[in-house]
This record gives sequence, C-alpha cells and structure tokens, in this order.
Amino acid sequence: MHFILFIVITVLQYSTAEHYKTKPSFIRTCFKGDPEFDDCSKDAVQNLFNALGPGLPEIDLPSLDPLNIPQIRILQGDGPVNVNAALDNVVVTGFGKTEVLLSQVDGRTYDFYTKVRVPKIRIEGTYDLRGKILLIPLVGSGLCWFEPSNMTIDIVSSVKLYEKSGLPFFNVTQCHVKYNIGGLKLHMSNLFDGISSLEESTNAYLNANWRPVSESLRPILSKTIEDILLGFMQQIFHNLPANFMIGDLKTHLTNKKIEKKGNI
Ligand SMILES: *[C@@H]1O[C@H](CO)[C@@H](O)[C@H](O)[C@H]1NC(C)=O
Ligand SMILES: *[C@@H]1O[C@H](CO)[C@@H](O)[C@H](O)[C@H]1NC(C)=O
Repeated sequence: MHFILFIVITVLQYSTAEHYKTKPSFIRTCFKGDPEFDDCSKDAVQNLFNALGPGLPEIDLPSLDPLNIPQIRILQGDGPVNVNAALDNVVVTGFGKTEVLLSQVDGRTYDFYTKVRVPKIRIEGTYDLRGKILLIPLVGSGLCWFEPSNMTIDIVSSVKLYEKSGLPFFNVTQCHVKYNIGGLKLHMSNLFDGISSLEESTNAYLNANWRPVSESLRPILSKTIEDILLGFMQQIFHNLPANFMIGDLKTHLTNKKIEKKGNI
C-alpha cells in the first residue's frame, strides 16, 4: 500500500530568548540518586504543565491553553483516510488540565518517558477538506470542531545533552506519542457546500462511528501531537538548564557525546 503522510504545522518560531539564569519557581529539582525520583519527577512535570498553561513569555513560549495554531496542512495518500486538508486559525483548549500520571527519566541517556491524561480537549478552526474518511467522500470548507475526551498520551522523548554558557542543556531531538481516547465528538459545518441534509447525516454518521473515525485519523493526530510537543519541549529545554531539573545530572555518564557549543 502506498502511504504518504505529510503534515506541516506552524506553532513556534525560533526564538532568541535569553535562557533562565536562576531556577524559576515552577521548577522542582529532583535527584536521580533519590529512590523516590519517579514521584518527585511526576510532581515536577505536573508543575511544569501547570506553568505552561498560561505561557512563559520570558522565554517566548505562548500559552498551551488555549493553544493557537495558525495553520495545519495535511496531505495523506491511499488508505482508509485519503485526505487533502487545511485547518486554519486552530484553537485548542483543554491542555491546561493535563494530569501527569507518570514521569521517568533514563539513568544513562536521560531520555524521558511521560504519561499524561487530558480529560477534555476541544479543537476548533476553519477547515478546507477534500478526501475520504471511512471511504466516505468528504468535500467542504467552513468551521469545524473536534472534542476527544479522556485522552491518555504516552510520550517518549529522546534528548541529547549539550553545553551553553558553561551550563548543561537538553536538546530534545525526537518525540514519539501513543494515545488512547475514551470518546470523540466532532462537527464540520458546510460539508458538501452546505447541502444541509447531507451535512447533517454525514456528521451524525461520523459521530456514531467515532471509534473507526478516530482510528483512521490516528496517524494525523499522532503526528500533530508529536510536532506540537516537540516544539514546546525544544523551546523550554533550550532555555532551562538541565541541572535545574536533575540536581545530580552526570554529564560524563551519558553514552551520547556532549556537544560543545560556544558561549551564546
Ligand atoms: C480514561 O481512560 C483510562 C484508560 O485509557 C481508563 O482507565 C479510565 O477509567 C478512563 N476515565 C474516564 C473518566 O473515562
Ligand atoms: C540539537 O539536535 C539536532 C539534531 O541532532 C541538531 O541539528 C542541533 O544542532 C542540536 N542543537 C543544539 C543546540 O545542540
């Protein structure tokens, strides 16, 4: 099967913000040598999510709730979903209520494993769609919203340590997510150019079949969440010295070469 998924998301732009010189109040330092590290780390990541809700303007980080995404472009070839879509002026609400269930940090590589739950997310925007979902041809453009509920997300992030101004930082290089949802409601206005009987029956059909719909959207949603998370994590960790988070960080223990960057 020929399968192409191409997504372009505009969330964060490269920023030249100054990194934190002193530990911000929302950062809790944990020690890898502490047997209770995972509990400490879970609370620390929860504090971080709480601070991210309203945003951190001092490091040019926009708010996570609401999260504004100017543009998402999706191009996906053959398969159950065959979609050529654009979503504009997207507003995502709900991530401010993220509950951290688990946070682990690899003792050697410092890669992160994080598990979170978001009770309710609402994604609103303007769509322009030409494609197939569940083999139903869909054409239209207008307002739309999606509401996944009880979303649990497993996040595996790879990091590389590097040095800047004599301080260690995490360079988050990859982020992989797996998620589950407990429900999905959605509505697309003006489907089929507003032939309202078709629009209503199609929306009703998609809602009644939310599970296969959400399965068919999985590659798109996974990639979207990964790109958003990666952008946020990079922006945070390029600005937050790693030893503020892990007090006994052992840079020499990692098998990954520390990349020296000159004073910036
Ligand atoms: C949310 O989902 C998890 C597992 O995915 C489940 O254990 C839990 O009971 C669900 N909670 C609610 C409120 O539906
Ligand atoms: C972070 O890692 C990426 C990918 O390996 C690399 O291109 C980039 O230069 C690194 N950035 C820093 C600041 O080390």
